[in-house]
Amino acid sequence: MPKKQIYLTGFMGTGKSMILNCLHEVCGFDKIEMDEQIVQEQGMSIPEIFEKKGEEYFRNLETELVKKISAMDNIVVSCGGGTVMRQCNVDEMKKNGTIVLLTAEPETVYERVKGSHNRPLLEKNMNPEYIKELMEARRPKYEAAADFVIKTDNRTAEEICLEINKRL
Ligand code: S3P
Repeated sequence: MPKKQIYLTGFMGTGKSMILNCLHEVCGFDKIEMDEQIVQEQGMSIPEIFEKKGEEYFRNLETELVKKISAMDNIVVSCGGGTVMRQCNVDEMKKNGTIVLLTAEPETVYERVKGSHNRPLLEKNMNPEYIKELMEARRPKYEAAADFVIKTDNRTAEEICLEINKRL
């Protein structure tokens, strides 16, 4: 029996938003894309928030949003790639939720994100080497937060989604 919330986490470009839409269809839960929600509430894009208000401000918005979501029922959530870097967010998510970690090889991530200018943390270093470095630095926190891990390289959203649904 799934818990009240399903959180999709993982590095940028691991397919969280794509799987969100699929899982929303398959399990019938409502959905929240955290970045999208923050952008709507702030009336600014993610790069604008980072530039005008700073990363810490963005991280505080994430923490506030996680608190709100953890009181909701039957919801599937696509987190920002850095949300589980704060332990207080993980603690909140674990109260009633299942955390699913999506992974992909650095080269796969690079191919998925290289054309986008919506990720301030990669803007100055958009290359597979830097992606690998940041991914490795974050890996312990991603793995500690996760209830289970799903690889996304060379698989369709449908395959991934069905596997997640089975393992919940
Ligand atoms: C971030 C990931 C982004 C966004 C912000 C910071 C991160 O979300 O929240 O740019 O720290 O990994 P996606 O993982 O959806 O790209």
